[in-house]
Amino acid sequence: MKDKQIEKLIKAEEGRQKKTISLIASENYVSADVLKALGSKFTNKYSEGYPGHRYYKGQTFTDQVEELCRSRALKLFKLNSKDWAVNVQALSGSPANLAVYLALVPPGGKVMGMSLDHGGHLTHGHKVSATGKIWTQVPYGVDKNTEVINYDEIKKIAVAEKPDMIIAGYTAYPRTVDFKKFREIADVVVHPEAGRRTILMVDMSHFAGLVAGGAYPSPFDYADVVTTTTHKTLRGPRSALIFSRRDKTKLNAKGNPVSFGDLIDKAVFPGLQGGPHMNQIAAVAVTLKEASTPAFKKYAKQVVKNAKVLAEELKKMGWKIISGGTDSHLILVDTGKISGAEASDRLEKVGIIVNKNTIPNEPRSPMDPSGIRLGTAGETTRGAKEKDMVKLAKRIDQALKK
Ligand SMILES: Cc1ncc(COP(=O)(O)O)c(C=O)c1O
Repeated sequence: MKDKQIEKLIKAEEGRQKKTISLIASENYVSADVLKALGSKFTNKYSEGYPGHRYYKGQTFTDQVEELCRSRALKLFKLNSKDWAVNVQALSGSPANLAVYLALVPPGGKVMGMSLDHGGHLTHGHKVSATGKIWTQVPYGVDKNTEVINYDEIKKIAVAEKPDMIIAGYTAYPRTVDFKKFREIADVVVHPEAGRRTILMVDMSHFAGLVAGGAYPSPFDYADVVTTTTHKTLRGPRSALIFSRRDKTKLNAKGNPVSFGDLIDKAVFPGLQGGPHMNQIAAVAVTLKEASTPAFKKYAKQVVKNAKVLAEELKKMGWKIISGGTDSHLILVDTGKISGAEASDRLEKVGIIVNKNTIPNEPRSPMDPSGIRLGTAGETTRGAKEKDMVKLAKRIDQALKK
C-alpha cells in the first residue's frame, strides 16, 4: 500500500483481532472470499436503480451480481420468489429498518418494539433514533420475574394500543422467540380504515445465521416482513436484507394495492439512498453461498452449543445469567457488584473483548449499565468448542472477581 499511515493501522487492527478474543455478540470473522469481493472493482460502479432498471449504463455484471444475491438470499431461507420479494441494497441494519417503516407505516403511526433496556434495538422506535422521532414507539418488555417474553402481556398492550406494526427480534435477548404467537397477536389487531391487520416485522439481525443453519426457529412462516443484518451470526460483510411477502399490499393514494416489496424497494431507492454498494452486494452473495453449506449448519449448531456451555459454566461460578440461560449465540450477564463498564474494561485488560449492556429493568443507565453481553459466533468461527468455553468462563470469572 502507498498510504503507509493507513497500512499501519490496518496491520495494527489485524494484530489486535488476532491477539484478542471477541465475545461481541454482533461481530464475526468473514472469509477471505468475502473480503476479496468487498475489495473488488465493483466498488467503482454506480448502479442507481434495480436490475434491468438502472440510471447509468454499463450494468451487465452489476445486474448479474444483484440478481444472484437476491436468488441466493431466497434460497438460503427456503423461500420462493413467487411468494417473497427481497431487497439487498440497504447499506446496513438501521437503514433497512428505517426503509421498512418509511414504506409501510404512516408518519406519526405506532411501531411496537421491545424497549432498549429490555433488549430491543434503537431502530425499533427508541426516541434517540429517527425511528422514534418520525413514528411513535409502543414499548414492550420481558417479564419481570422470568426475564423472558410474556406473550399475554404483549397481546394486552397490542390490543390497547393498536400499533400499525409489531416488531419481534432483538439485540440483547438470548432466548428463542415464538413467532407463531406474535402472528396471532398481530392478527387480533385490526385496522378497519386500512382494511388490514397489524403488520408483523421480524428483525432477525442477530440470529439470521442460526436460522440459516437450522439452529434457531425460522420467522418466515409467520412474518409479513423480515429484516436482517448480514454481519452477525450470518458471517458476512456489513449490510442488510429485507424480505417481504408478495401477497401483502397497501393502498396507494389512488386506492390501488401496491405490494410491500415494491414499496420497500422505493423506500430504499430513491427514498433513502442513492447508488447501492455493489462490492458489498457481491460480498453478501458470497456469504449467502457459504451459509448454505453443510459446514455452516455444523457451525451454527456449534455456536449455540458453545453459548449454552459458557452460560452454564458462568452460572456455576455464581454469575446471574439473565433469563437463566440461552437458546442462541447470546448471553446476558448481570455483573453484580461491578458495573458492566467496569467489567468490560477488566476483560479488555486480559484480552477478552465484550460490550457493556443494559439488563431488563435496568437500575443504572445505558452508559453505565449493570451487565455485559457475550456472544459465541466469532470464537466458534475460529474453531472454539465446548472445552474452550469452559476455559473461557474461568478466565472471565477470574477477571471479574479480582
Ligand atoms: C436487532 C438489530 N437490528 C438492527 C441493527 C442495526 O444494524 P447496523 O448496526 O448494521 O445499522 C442491529 C445492530 O446491532 C441489531 O442488533
